[in-house]
Amino acid sequence: MNELRLPIADDMHIHLRNDERTEHAVRAVRAGGTGRVLAMPNTVPAVSNGAEAENYRRRLQDQGADFEILTTIKLTGRTTVEDISDAAANGVVAVKQYPMGVTTNSDDGVTDVRPLFPIYEAIQDKDLILSLHGEVPGVFVMDAETAFLDSLHDICRNFPKLRIILEHTTTAAAVDLVKELGDHVAATITDHHLAITLDDVVGSKIQPHHFCMPVAKRPGDRDALNAVVKSGHPRFFSGTDSAPHKVEDKETACGCAGIFNSPFHMQFLAHHFEESGMLDRLEDFTSRFGADFYRLRRNTEEIHLVREPCTVPERYGPMVPFRSGQTLNWSLR
Ligand code: DOR
Ligand code: ZN
Repeated sequence: MNELRLPIADDMHIHLRNDERTEHAVRAVRAGGTGRVLAMPNTVPAVSNGAEAENYRRRLQDQGADFEILTTIKLTGRTTVEDISDAAANGVVAVKQYPMGVTTNSDDGVTDVRPLFPIYEAIQDKDLILSLHGEVPGVFVMDAETAFLDSLHDICRNFPKLRIILEHTTTAAAVDLVKELGDHVAATITDHHLAITLDDVVGSKIQPHHFCMPVAKRPGDRDALNAVVKSGHPRFFSGTDSAPHKVEDKETACGCAGIFNSPFHMQFLAHHFEESGMLDRLEDFTSRFGADFYRLRRNTEEIHLVREPCTVPERYGPMVPFRSGQTLNWSLR
């Protein structure tokens, strides 16, 4: 097979920022074969209510976003039930919860889920999605996602109708639990977690452009992510967690977490899915399962991938893109 025609991709988890990185992050979306995104709210200042979400969407359009933008608000200790109704009235589709201090701009994140139950109730009532960065602050980094799984279970038990997404899932344990929890619970999987393990971050050399949160885990965890995608499980779909940080904020003694993978997203996934013998699953993963879980119409615009080498540049604006300097087997025409 030398050509692939697929519906344009959905990216159900992306960081587009709100500063000088934004024009590059916006340009990268269509360059990587994506036509609809869920924009994360951990900008500075944060997107924390419906009006701010709508303003953010407009600012992204002013910066050239020629794709569909679905919005989120950030769930903090200050979020009220009224914020949730107001978000729903403004077309927000998901409420994103961060663990305190674990990742970029998460100092206003949460430490305990129980106090948030009234907010979860409101999210369930409004039929919005609860989007979880599932790690527990203060737990050893390799165990922080697994440590969150009890809370995930607890939320599901108490809010059986709440639709929940465990974002950027990295462990075999999380994959097993999401499968077990049933139809209201799904997971996104990033491009990079399908490909790298902790060895690619701190194995023999420090590779800051592979550092992200949650950190890439063990080979068995990566295998479990690939296996669930290969199995065609409909509650596991693509969210890149593409997170632009300037090169100087990555190549430094105290670097930021985040991998900028959006500019070559579909070129990379075609390459990876083919190498993994699961190219026939690509369309479901990038263009169907996410739309179905979010109850959106499926994308109809097509992209055209061709088997032509595509070398990822060393820089994309002030960022180093994922797989920079490497050649992928597929290009977008
Ligand atoms: O690596 C990450 N970067 N993980 C996140 O959860 C946030 C993101 C960012 O915004 O930089
Ligand atoms: Zn993210």
